[in-house]
Amino acid sequence: MDLKIAVLPGDGIGPEISTQGVNALQAVCDKFGHNVMFDFGIVGAAAIDAVGDPFPEKTYQLCRDSDAVFFSAVGDPKYDNNPSAKIRPEQGLLAMRKKLGLFANIRPVETFKCMLHKSPLKAEIIDGADFLCIRELTGGMYFGKKYESDAEAYDTNHYTRHEIERILKVAFEYASRRRRHLTVVDKANVLASSRLWRKVAQEMAVDYPEVVTDYMFVDNAAMKLIQDPRFFDVIVTENTFGDILTDEGSVISGSMGLLPSASTGSGTPVFEPIHGSWPEAKGKNIANPIAQILSGAMLLEYFNLTEEASLIRRAVKASLEAGFSTPDITGDRHHHSTSAVGQWIVEYIQRH
Ligand code: IPM
Ligand code: MN
Repeated sequence: MDLKIAVLPGDGIGPEISTQGVNALQAVCDKFGHNVMFDFGIVGAAAIDAVGDPFPEKTYQLCRDSDAVFFSAVGDPKYDNNPSAKIRPEQGLLAMRKKLGLFANIRPVETFKCMLHKSPLKAEIIDGADFLCIRELTGGMYFGKKYESDAEAYDTNHYTRHEIERILKVAFEYASRRRRHLTVVDKANVLASSRLWRKVAQEMAVDYPEVVTDYMFVDNAAMKLIQDPRFFDVIVTENTFGDILTDEGSVISGSMGLLPSASTGSGTPVFEPIHGSWPEAKGKNIANPIAQILSGAMLLEYFNLTEEASLIRRAVKASLEAGFSTPDITGDRHHHSTSAVGQWIVEYIQRH
């Protein structure tokens, strides 16, 4: 297969983990005889510094003309504590999602047996937890009408039936292919937008009789996620709730540095780690490359290259089992660098 991939390393630890992700993809494509081409683009603070735009037209063209985008992270502290900054790195990511029509963000939370003791939760609570959070990505408060002055400010949590239907369809289909349990997370006891979500979900549930659909308020879901994560199979929720719940979900596995994600919709799909740019670690070669490398596995699965993806997953698992990991997992002792972990995984791929 021929694959043309747009690589957007972005900010902070982005470039370091991006390199390891690219190396792993290259290794697996070499092994299976696929012809993969990587083209690099700028995004986020790096793009603001270079051309004054966090998602330049040239980067957009590159994404549009590629089969997939392999994205890392954006964000820089010089913007975080400056509420009056007009241009922000995060706008680059939001513009990319909107322009590429990526309304569905798939965030799988899985646990690794050898990592259970690393979780902030008790091993017996999380052992076997395995769920998907499907986050709506181009609507809600992120993109609704906004107003900002010194005296007042608002964001509008706007959703149309069309936007709700298309994301719920994705969720019902994932649930049908998995353990056939869908939890629709909303705040229908307070929010009008949530009531429309619930209404549409109830209408659609009739067409998926094989799926057990339940409804949960987001505050309750936040609690249930840490109390009984095995309850969940597929969660679907709006943009803002999904943002928050997936950060919560990501630490269940023991390190945020392990979880990949895929964003899909009408345009080129984007594959990216769920963690951010961790600016404090920039250039230190200590960030965990695994979320990025597993994003590569999700990318391959998107193109039905399941054997290839499974080799990446096996390599990652083997590295964790061998204890060959970055300090987020090993602590200060016996840790390995970002590039050493990436290299270990590449060599595993080459040998198996
Ligand atoms: C994420 C991130 C982004 C979001 C930021 C960087 C804009 O937190 O992908 O979850 O809020 O969607
Ligand atoms: Mn987030």
